[in-house]
Amino acid sequence: MLILKSASEIAYLKAAGRIAAETLKKTGEAVKPGIKTSELDRFANSLIEKAGAVSAFKGYRGYPANICISINEEVVHGIPSDRKIKEGDIVSLDVGVIKDGFFGDVAGTFPAGEISSEAEKLLRTAEECLEDSIAQVKPDARMGDVAWAVQSKAEQNGYSVVRDFTGHGIGRSLHEDLQVPNFGKPGTGVRLREGMTFCIEPMLNAGVYNVVVKSDGWTVTTKDKKLSAHFEAAVAVVKGGVDVLTAL
Ligand code: MF3
Ligand code: CO
Repeated sequence: MLILKSASEIAYLKAAGRIAAETLKKTGEAVKPGIKTSELDRFANSLIEKAGAVSAFKGYRGYPANICISINEEVVHGIPSDRKIKEGDIVSLDVGVIKDGFFGDVAGTFPAGEISSEAEKLLRTAEECLEDSIAQVKPDARMGDVAWAVQSKAEQNGYSVVRDFTGHGIGRSLHEDLQVPNFGKPGTGVRLREGMTFCIEPMLNAGVYNVVVKSDGWTVTTKDKKLSAHFEAAVAVVKGGVDVLTAL
């Protein structure tokens, strides 16, 4: 069921989104060679709690940590552990929070120290894919326009987009009934309407788009073990355009 949101519900989603975005930014700044991913997880959770929110991921379908941390060939859903971040790693952080019953969900990929120019280009392109797709969001646009903005820029730059995972509706639950694929054709798909709220989350792979799930049941990696980057924002369709719910 598609749930359209009122202006006041959008304000609540924005409050949750801002907490998620601030947590992402500060945790991203803490990404450094030598730090353990479990330390980043604890740091993020302390920020979430200080803001009067709780992690949306902890316990979700049994997920064991507060945020997801996915390094290099890991695409999404990496579980924080004793693993230490190394110079040159690219580190995707995915932060979800619940504040006053509303969900915020945001992600970004951060460099640890100096990274290769190839990694740098992947990160930059993935972030631009997210920005371009957000720019497509307005009443009467189509979900295929959003998807195509991601796919076209990714493929022009020699990258592939993950097909097995998509963005999703967001509201009083983490995943509402709206699929936001990262590939598609302009002028096709769901017609966007005022009050729709959803997450756009491009996952770009340096190699093939195929992914596999590790034996921990969570961590998704690229099939060819090449690098992957993930950026996510939550947005609302509003009169005349888009309101970014995960703005700082
Ligand atoms: N941003 C991810 C998603 O929308 C977060 C889910 S991770 C989980 O699917 F740990 F909560 F499953
Ligand atoms: Co999400």
